[in-house]
Amino acid sequence: MPTHDLVVIGAGPGGYVAAIRAAQLGLNVACVEEEQALGGTCLRVGCIPSKAMLEASELYSMARSHLAEFGVTMTAVSLDLPTMLKRKDGIVSQLTKGVEGLFRKNKVTRYFGHGRIKAAGVVAVEGKEPQEIQAKHIVIATGSKSSPLNGVELDGTHVVTSTEALSFTEVPKHLVVIGAGYIGLEMGCVWKRLGAKVTVLEFLDRILPGMDSEMAAEAQKVFTKQGLEFKLGTRVTSAKYDGQKCIVECGGSEPIHADKVLLSVGRYPNADNLGLDVVHVARDSRGRVQVDQLFRTTIPGIYAIGDMIGGPMLAHKAEEEGVACIEGIVHGHCHVNYDAIPGVVYTDPEIASVGKTEDQLKEANVPYKKGVFPFMANGRAKALGQTEGRVKMLAHAQTDRILGVHIIGPRAGDLIAEAVVALEFGASSEDIARSSHAHPTLAEVMKEAALNVDGRAIHM
Ligand code: NAI
Repeated sequence: MPTHDLVVIGAGPGGYVAAIRAAQLGLNVACVEEEQALGGTCLRVGCIPSKAMLEASELYSMARSHLAEFGVTMTAVSLDLPTMLKRKDGIVSQLTKGVEGLFRKNKVTRYFGHGRIKAAGVVAVEGKEPQEIQAKHIVIATGSKSSPLNGVELDGTHVVTSTEALSFTEVPKHLVVIGAGYIGLEMGCVWKRLGAKVTVLEFLDRILPGMDSEMAAEAQKVFTKQGLEFKLGTRVTSAKYDGQKCIVECGGSEPIHADKVLLSVGRYPNADNLGLDVVHVARDSRGRVQVDQLFRTTIPGIYAIGDMIGGPMLAHKAEEEGVACIEGIVHGHCHVNYDAIPGVVYTDPEIASVGKTEDQLKEANVPYKKGVFPFMANGRAKALGQTEGRVKMLAHAQTDRILGVHIIGPRAGDLIAEAVVALEFGASSEDIARSSHAHPTLAEVMKEAALNVDGRAIHM
């Protein structure tokens, strides 16, 4: 039986990063992955292809509706969806092959097949070439799957999850999105920009639950202005394709007809045929594997990271945990700062956030100061023609330590990195306010928001 020091099950951002880190630290590492392409949901059918489509649809929308404002006129703009999809697939292929290259460089042995834990120290690889492998340490990094919803009949073509919604071969006339979370808004924005009518049905009375509520309300206003239709407080009871159209029923109102329906009401840990019950790895009521600070499960030698355990289901959170888990195995200690994990919704404009929301501070009775600065007053945003949104910085009322930063606006997902570093270093708003930010850049909004924590923004 092939023997390794460590085997990782799953080659998503958590798993492949853990495998590489373990190899860097001198372990003999294997990784079992059932998909041909490495990289997991994120690279194959998640973050990366969706961003390729977001960028492409943004350019199309720019060319169609906004380039004239810049003095660039075009006689005809048309959509070439097959090329857009081909480009997206090309980017995915380059990146998944890149992970293969990284495995080769780091001498990580890849096993192609479904990994199932047979016992502590033994993983069965099931598939074309079934075999068993032995390893002292097993890391579970199998990610998550789209949550189903009672009454919603997924058929892979008309009533679909995000995987299929990334590859519609025609622009739907009317797309109904169930769930106003990350996936629903990102995919809704893509197809809206490509010409679809988009209706978003959300069970709660707000969008983006968990995000700062003031910023979520502002985002909803912006998206509504762009033409997205929201029906909040709407409970979907059924959705199916009747052979001609999709019919979506919501308690108490008229059925909605559409040609495509996207179900995006969350994800759940992927423990399919993983052997967790056989080896008695403890899980909570939502199927998440229970781990301690060293990512150890209740069974010695078995660890879990990423979407399989608690916390936000984000690729970069899984990566941090992958590295920390391995360093814990090798060095006996490790740390992930969950207060400094950013969340980004890649819509247009983007929404980004790190640290505490204003709602959380209020609820915990933490005294805070707030500095807000709009992109409208930023020169670079004006030049870009993207002035919607603002930055909100929250700092402790007495110590001035930054507690949370929330941004809606152009490239918010890149701008939030400064706030993440500030939180990691325990910075005060004064620290950011006194740091020179190049002019003219979007990043100046961060400095101005920091200045405004004490009411001294210059350009407002
Ligand atoms: P989500 O948890 O972000 O949002 C699901 C939404 O569906 C919530 O607003 C919820 O209230 C609503 N909902 C639940 N049941 C419903 C019902 N019966 N009818 C109507 N609405 C209902 O889940 P989503 O968007 O599916 O994303 C799954 C995971 O993937 C998230 O944890 C997210 O963090 C991650 N993700 C992250 C991305 C990023 O970092 N940019 C992009 C895509 C996904």
